[in-house]
Amino acid sequence: MTGTEPIGLRVTPPSLRGRFRRDPLLWTATGVAKLWWPGWGALSRLRTRHVEDGIVGVRIAAREPVAVDEDVVALTLASANGDPLPRWYAGSHVDVLLPSGRIRQYSLCGDPADQSVYRIAVRRILSGGGGSIEIHDDLRVGDLLPIRGPRNAFPLVLPGVADGRDPSAKQLRFVAGGIGITPILPMLSHAERLGYDWSAIYTGRSRASIPFLRELEGYGDRITVRTDDEDGLPDADGLVGPLDGERPIVLYCCGPIPMIDLLRAHLDGRGDVELHYERFSPPPVVGGSEFAVSLARSGVSTTVGADESLLAALRRVYPGVPYSCQQGFCGTCRLHVVDGEPEHRDTLLSDAERADGDILTCVSRCAGTHLTVDL
Ligand code: FES
Repeated sequence: MTGTEPIGLRVTPPSLRGRFRRDPLLWTATGVAKLWWPGWGALSRLRTRHVEDGIVGVRIAAREPVAVDEDVVALTLASANGDPLPRWYAGSHVDVLLPSGRIRQYSLCGDPADQSVYRIAVRRILSGGGGSIEIHDDLRVGDLLPIRGPRNAFPLVLPGVADGRDPSAKQLRFVAGGIGITPILPMLSHAERLGYDWSAIYTGRSRASIPFLRELEGYGDRITVRTDDEDGLPDADGLVGPLDGERPIVLYCCGPIPMIDLLRAHLDGRGDVELHYERFSPPPVVGGSEFAVSLARSGVSTTVGADESLLAALRRVYPGVPYSCQQGFCGTCRLHVVDGEPEHRDTLLSDAERADGDILTCVSRCAGTHLTVDL
């Protein structure tokens, strides 16, 4: 071998004082690092698994009925490994991955400042897809659940905060119908904490059926409770509340579809009320026409009616087909089209995913007369 050899590769340098062939400080630091690194690596892997794919493990820490008729149960969900739960803001929801494989979305209705627990509330719906029944009848305190999120499709944008103008220039109005109170609850506490001029109307079939009444008593007469059995159905003016003629209203609504449709029609074209809303159930099919769908793997075919979703038709012949939001934004119902031309109506898929043949069956349809999906 010719030339010079890098001395550092063969010869251990002496210590700074020249007494040791190895520097004791470096030697100690190396030993500590060797012990520490495998432990840190294992911890890191655990932590990574904890949030893999946005999935977080939670344990049911408490469950309690929160409506007099006991058809609404609140679940307190604590981090399964003790780590702080991901931060969230009023209006957020999580996907709950149930033991049956069903995925359901529930609004977070606890305190956003408390990262040790989440709270959700679930109404038992006998005519639904079985998710709420499973939660009511099968889940117990101590059970582990994977959840995904939180995500926020219904953010509270407080007037005056984003645009830097006077917060008192607008009034805040909240409209909740039944279990629609869940995303509104943290909005109320937020608006109250920041001293906004707000009011709310809370409606439902009866006092026994609407959740969190006792918790809302603390807000006094800022909240009007109005039930169908005592007061009749509310009209749009009653939902919007009094206008002072000078300040516009920013209105947040969550409730049944007829309530939201009533408000949308009433406020259409009005410049004095800014409407934000979230619906819990699928929107009606608009401008649909009938087509046939075939399941490539089983060979089963069915007809998708002009006023029903592709997902609804698939569920008739394949009840286990996954779905969640039914509004085209979560992606749970995604399938691959192997034949036919889709008519995309979602807000999630990219052009590349559409070109690749993906379709969200809860909202999208067929541009022709026949579609075959990989199911
Ligand atoms: S169920 Fe959420 S996008 Fe279809």
